[in-house]
Formats: sequence, C-alpha cells, structure tokens
Amino acid sequence: MPFTANRQFRSAPRLLARAEGMYYWTPEGRQVLDGTAGLWCVNAGHCRPRIVEAVRRQVGEMDFAPTFQMGHPIAFEFAERLAAVAPPGFKHVFFTNSGSESADTALKIALAYHRARGEGQRYRLIGRERGYHGVNFGGMAVGGIPANRKVFGPGIAGVYHIRHTHDLSKNSFSKGQPLHGGTEFADDLERLCTFHDPSTVAAVIVEPVAGSAGVLVPPRGYLERLREICTRHGILLIFDEVITGFGRLGKPFGAERLGVMPDLFTTAKALTNGTVPMGAVFVKDAIHEAFMQGPAGIELFHGYTYSGHPVACAAGIAMLDTCEEEGLLERAAGLEGHWEAAAHALKGARHVIDVRNFGLMAAIELEPRSGAPAARAYETFVKAFESGVLIRVTADTIALSPPLIVEKPQIDRMFGVIREALASTG
Ligand SMILES: Cc1ncc(COP(=O)(O)O)c(C=O)c1O
Repeated sequence: MPFTANRQFRSAPRLLARAEGMYYWTPEGRQVLDGTAGLWCVNAGHCRPRIVEAVRRQVGEMDFAPTFQMGHPIAFEFAERLAAVAPPGFKHVFFTNSGSESADTALKIALAYHRARGEGQRYRLIGRERGYHGVNFGGMAVGGIPANRKVFGPGIAGVYHIRHTHDLSKNSFSKGQPLHGGTEFADDLERLCTFHDPSTVAAVIVEPVAGSAGVLVPPRGYLERLREICTRHGILLIFDEVITGFGRLGKPFGAERLGVMPDLFTTAKALTNGTVPMGAVFVKDAIHEAFMQGPAGIELFHGYTYSGHPVACAAGIAMLDTCEEEGLLERAAGLEGHWEAAAHALKGARHVIDVRNFGLMAAIELEPRSGAPAARAYETFVKAFESGVLIRVTADTIALSPPLIVEKPQIDRMFGVIREALASTG
C-alpha cells in the first residue's frame, strides 16, 4: 500500500466503500465526512452526476486512442477548455497521468526549452526544503521531504534546495500569509544562484503553498522575490499547482490568488475531480513557441501512453462544467473567513502549537510526543475517523482541505471533532 504502515494497517484496516457529495461510507455503512477532498483532489465533491455520466458515455464511445503521431478531438477540446480558464498567456498544456508525472514533465520541458534556445549549459534544478513534487525521480530529487529521499540514493545530479519558509518562532498562528521573512527566505535563491553561477540554472520549482509538508503558506513578498530573482537570471519559475489548482485558494489557480505568475505550472488531482487519473502541465506561450522554431520533426521527445486519455478528458471537461455551473473555482473565497475562524478557534486546544490557513486549506500543528514523533497526530487521525471525519496527517501536523462544496456546519463539525479527538489523546 502507498505511504502506509502496511503491517499496522493489516491489524486495524480502515476501508471506504462508497462516496457521494461531502461523504464517504465504510463497508459497514458508517458515514464519514470528507475533510480532505479524498487526497486533495475531489474539489467538486464525490460522484458528481455530470462527471459520472460523461465518463460512462466516453468509455462506451471510445475507450482509448493513441496520441503519438495521432490525435482525438476530446483531448484538444479539453486542452482548449483548460487554456480558457488558465491565466492569460498559458494557452498550451501537456497531458500526463499524475502529479508526479507533471513535475517530471515540467522539469524536462524546462531543460529542453533552454537547449532549444542555445542555452544547454542550464542543467541545474532548484527545489525547496519541505517541497513535495511526487515520487518519480525528478520530483523526488527536487522535493524536500527527507523521508521520501533518503533510501533512494542520490537521484539526479545538479539539484539544490533553497530553505523552507516555516518559522514558528515568528509566524505561529498566522492567518493567511505570514508577515515575517518573505524576502529573507527568498534571498536564499540568490545565494544558491551566485554560488553555482546563475547561467547554469534551468528552473526553480516550488508549490505556491506547500501542501504535503503541512500547509506552509508563503510569507508576504516571498513569491514576488523568487519571481524577481528568476526573471533577472533567465531562470524558469515552475509552480507546482497540483494542490492549489482548481479553486483551492479561491481563484482558479494559486498563482492568481497570490498575484505572481510562473513560467510553467503543473496540475493533476482536481483536474478531473480525482475521478480518472490525469495531470496537465501548462506552459507560457513563449515556451511553446521556442519548441516550434527548431528543425522539422518531433519537438519534444516525451509523452505517456495515456497522455490525453479520452476517458480522463471526458471527466475533466465535465469537472469544468460542474465548476462553472456552481461557481466552484471561486467558492472558497466566500468561505475563507468562516474557515479561518473555525480553524483558529483551536488555538489553546490541547497539544496545538500552531494553526495556519489559506483558501480552503488549514493545518493544525501538534507538539510531538516525546520520543514518538508523529504518534500523537496519527492517533488523532484514527479517533477522528472513528468519530466520522476524515482528516489527513503528516508527521505531527493535521491538514484539512475539504471539497469546495463544503457547507459551514460541516466545517464546524470537522474542527469540533478534531478538538474532541485532541482532548482525549495523550
Ligand atoms: C504539490 C504536489 N505535487 C505532486 C504531487 C504528486 O501527485 P501524484 O500523487 O498524483 O503523483 C502531489 C501529491 O500530493 C502534490 O501535492
């Protein structure tokens, strides 16, 4: 099982058998409120009729078609729909099947882009401590979660990491973007660039808000400064929007909410509402254009058998239709005040050393139990599940990211159940 303590699970399994809207049901029929949109992906809620019907129709009409030197209309239709919701200047997408593949694809596009423009000396890639870009070799290498890297050897060469932005001594219990340290943290990029010669750096990749490492919201001015340093040195800035894309932060994409535009950005998860695995890398028009200037023939030697899979495209189009009909890509903005207040009401609750939030994301960081890191959060997770609320934990941080259809009483229930679970956890 992925990222699972297999033996522990076997002794006490937790199973989900059915889902609808804001809820899962266990095989015994117990209802569980989804506080995590599955795994940050079911932004429109579960088993939405339009998406279910579109998938059903497509699988009966054309189950699969190759996309190497071939095409099918629904993939182009979906790409055009995505270009229409993307920020201006991002009119091209490359389809993958997951967030991990999107990260590796974006890194490869960045390297190939520099090469296409005669700057093949740019081979270095820069990630960030506590970043998560999936588990494939490229994403693992630029990722910054030690446990995900340490047993797999050196990965790929020429990869470096800037410092993370988490500073509890100055920014604890921040509401929205922390006030302290933005430019200071970002200046670490300038230091690395100077040390390695900026003309050898191809790309910097960061999540606009780090999700998997515990919802680390960028301090004010941080992303602006990263953007400025990258632009000055001709380095491509990649945002990993696998979590922040498709409405999580109250705008279609995190870049728009945060007011900083990358050169490429990656998506997956909510792209199809999690219904069919799929990812997409968005690139600025100028990047696409650079590939179209080279010699005739295949411009990018990269792709997956399932790139642009017709059933995934059908799910994605129906997801966009659902979002448009219900205003879901902006809905988080209207709930953010209530969400923030409910989250920060946990200040002072047992074990809580920090609460942070942005859009419809929140983290509650716990004081680790002495000698048993992560145990306290895991026990809280199990208790909340038994009380009918699905939360997510990484190390000693609880992360919440409900479907964007969530209602205020459901928000209150999530935080209420967490408070009770913490009170009974030693
Ligand atoms: C920011 C980010 N990038 C990449 C990934 C990897 O996505 P996948 O698990 O679909 O490969 C994740 C997954 O949580 C993610 O949060």
